[in-house]
Amino acid sequence: MYLGLDKGIALVTAASRGIGRATAERLAMEGMTVIVASRSVGSEREDLGEGHIVPIEVDLADADATAALVDTVVDAYGSLEVAVLNTPGPRIVPALGTSWSDWQAAHDLLLRPVVQLGTAAAKQMQKQRHGSIVLMSSTWVRQPAAGGVLSSAYRSAASAFVKTLANEVASDGVRVNQVMPGATGTARMHGIVEMKARNNATAVDDEIAMVVQDIPLGRWAEAIEIADTVAFLASPRAAFITGTSLSVDGGAVRAAH
Ligand SMILES: NC(=O)c1ccc[n+]([C@@H]2O[C@H](COP(=O)([O-])OP(=O)(O)OC[C@H]3O[C@@H](n4cnc5c(N)ncnc54)[C@H](OP(=O)(O)O)[C@@H]3O)[C@@H](O)[C@H]2O)c1
Repeated sequence: MYLGLDKGIALVTAASRGIGRATAERLAMEGMTVIVASRSVGSEREDLGEGHIVPIEVDLADADATAALVDTVVDAYGSLEVAVLNTPGPRIVPALGTSWSDWQAAHDLLLRPVVQLGTAAAKQMQKQRHGSIVLMSSTWVRQPAAGGVLSSAYRSAASAFVKTLANEVASDGVRVNQVMPGATGTARMHGIVEMKARNNATAVDDEIAMVVQDIPLGRWAEAIEIADTVAFLASPRAAFITGTSLSVDGGAVRAAH
């Protein structure tokens, strides 16, 4: 399906690997110039399909650098058509095992960058009178899980923020949506099952089987499957979709809505 994203400028944060990287590659394959912002992204511009990937080194824990990111992109490229607000995942820890510094660190990586980047991107897109913002979230907003309290709590706030933003900027031609991945086979997911295997004195394959047994489609996602969904929501093909939250989870969330 032709998505009509070609020639635009996209910003994808936390995108040196995993879901962020897959999303950046997907948008570049559509013909976009995609600025990928992470701590370790290298310095080489890459050509991919009809598009390009341009690295920019940013630590999302640095509030000033994060606040300046959208302006840096617009100063260099003149516009911003798509902003994918991806962040690193927080520590996996039971609610009663958290320290206050865990909450502060998760706030500074999961919520503050989303508010800073979402606000800056929405203001730029209002001026342009077009643009699309996609928050990378998690099914743990809809269905909290053991060890996921930092993710569920701050992503719920981020989710409310983007829903409100969607209502505020719709009349300016700007759309804001949220993708909620379930378990996805990235370095983070492999790290989580390895940690569980160590803690439970089990085999990694057994821990993977435990994750997968709760997924009706019988496997976890590939990062490209999340990226495909983001690309669709970001594109003019989703022109009548705003303020929505789309789970990409193989059926793992049991609630009807
Ligand atoms: N994988 C899953 O099953 C799953 C499910 C639901 C939700 N999610 C969420 O989706 C997001 C992406 O997950 P993933 O699995 O792709 O994670 P991942 O493989 O661990 O990749 C994380 C990305 O975040 C970047 N990053 C880490 N710390 C950063 C910082 N301080 N500043 C800027 N960038 C930083 C990393 O690059 P650098 O190290 O180069 O900075 C990397 O590109 C996370 O929020 C995760 O919680 C994942």
